[in-house]
Amino acid sequence: MSHANIGVVGLAVMGSNLARNLASREGNRVAVYNRSWDKTEHLVDAHPEANFVAAKSIQEFAASLSTPRTAIIMVKAGAGTDAVIDQLCEVFEPGDIIVDGGNALFTDTIRREKAVRETGINFVGAGISGGEEGALLGPSIMPGGSAEAWETLGPILRSIAAVVDGEPCVTHIGTDGAGHFVKMIHNGIEYADMQLIAEAYDLIRRGTGKSPAEIADVFTEWNKGELESYLIEITAEVLRQVDAATGKPLVDVIVDEAGSKGTGVWTVQTALSLGTPVSGIAEAVFARGLSSHPEQRSLAKSFPGPYAFTVKDADAFIEDVRQALYASKIVAYSQGFDAIRAGADEYNWHINLGEVARIWRGGCIIRAQFLNPITEAYRANESLALLMAAPYFAKAVSGAQAAWRRVVIAATEAGIPAPAFGSSLSYYDGLRADRLPAAVIQGQRDFFGAHTYKRIDKPGTFHTLWSGDRTEIAAEDTH
Ligand code: 6PG
Repeated sequence: MSHANIGVVGLAVMGSNLARNLASREGNRVAVYNRSWDKTEHLVDAHPEANFVAAKSIQEFAASLSTPRTAIIMVKAGAGTDAVIDQLCEVFEPGDIIVDGGNALFTDTIRREKAVRETGINFVGAGISGGEEGALLGPSIMPGGSAEAWETLGPILRSIAAVVDGEPCVTHIGTDGAGHFVKMIHNGIEYADMQLIAEAYDLIRRGTGKSPAEIADVFTEWNKGELESYLIEITAEVLRQVDAATGKPLVDVIVDEAGSKGTGVWTVQTALSLGTPVSGIAEAVFARGLSSHPEQRSLAKSFPGPYAFTVKDADAFIEDVRQALYASKIVAYSQGFDAIRAGADEYNWHINLGEVARIWRGGCIIRAQFLNPITEAYRANESLALLMAAPYFAKAVSGAQAAWRRVVIAATEAGIPAPAFGSSLSYYDGLRADRLPAAVIQGQRDFFGAHTYKRIDKPGTFHTLWSGDRTEIAAEDTH
């Protein structure tokens, strides 16, 4: 049997496209296997140029691979992934490599890596971003796993990834679940970015009366500047689309209830447990949740709001929204990178944040021009504690703050929900505050639970005898 150097298991759209991408690169011969033969047959017949090695059974698949055998699993995340891993473990040998290219929860990846490692086989959880087109033409790839596996896998993944400035958008992120962790945060940022763009659209539409097609033109213009990104570009396309059946803008006939597959929720759950305030991302997840409760929304329909809202100077307002969007986007990315930093600390991963920014510049859904300055900010200071405090971004958010405030005020006065804009601005104000009301919270905690507090003027921990004579004692004396 002719030997393939790489195999793909799971031939739905993402798997098929990834297999075709692999096959199109010099030096690769790709084995393919799917639970039902139909899909395999269809792929092989439709793409004779790929010269696939088609396997009818998992045994045949393993036999068709040269060693160390390397297989990328592209099945829906969850129990199906465990089943395929079990099957592969039965036919693979120590030193072989199993890659999970789905959107797995990183803690599942940690668990799977540990279990598979016991057999001597390498397990790599790799985040792959870029949707169907990215899988085919060049995704951004975020692999975790061992350094040993990366040696074999690196050249293969480099050959299929998107390329920016001559560099492939892939890097070894860190051990076990690091790759899927970073992919999860990528998706959290994706949620925030999408919500912010949607809020910008809503404000412009309701504030200026512009049609979706006219707003598409605004976005196309924005896409030539610092906001240049894939998501702005495709939003313009969505807004320009006319529904063939009704002749209306497509966006007006789509039900306004946003779906989700869970990665945004995971990001927020994880960030909460790491104590990292990813407020912009959380608002984006909550906004999808609110939209998806029509029964509650219909009960609230009669709640009063302000009178109709029209801005006086449409162009000035649109420019304000652009600046508010840019500043809020910086907050979302800054919060996302903060969560990666916290995750790396917690799980002992050595994640190079500059490398993460670099590989997000192409192929993935959140690719954007401003990932270049993010890459540079981390190259200049690898241990940067707050991305938005890097000189380039500090200048950008400070420069946008007047416009940002005007937009949040306008949204509030007009009764237009802009939770991601608002919470991003609050985050900015919270960070820059000289004093925070957290001091009041410490007082409250000490009052009802003797949880103690620190003082600004001397070291130590203190407690006030609230139910006694209200004198202060050193905390050691409370127990
Ligand atoms: C990507 C995307 C992708 C994700 C979709 C759906 O990076 O290519 O993040 O992995 O599956 O965006 O996400 P939701 O259905 O949760 O919006």
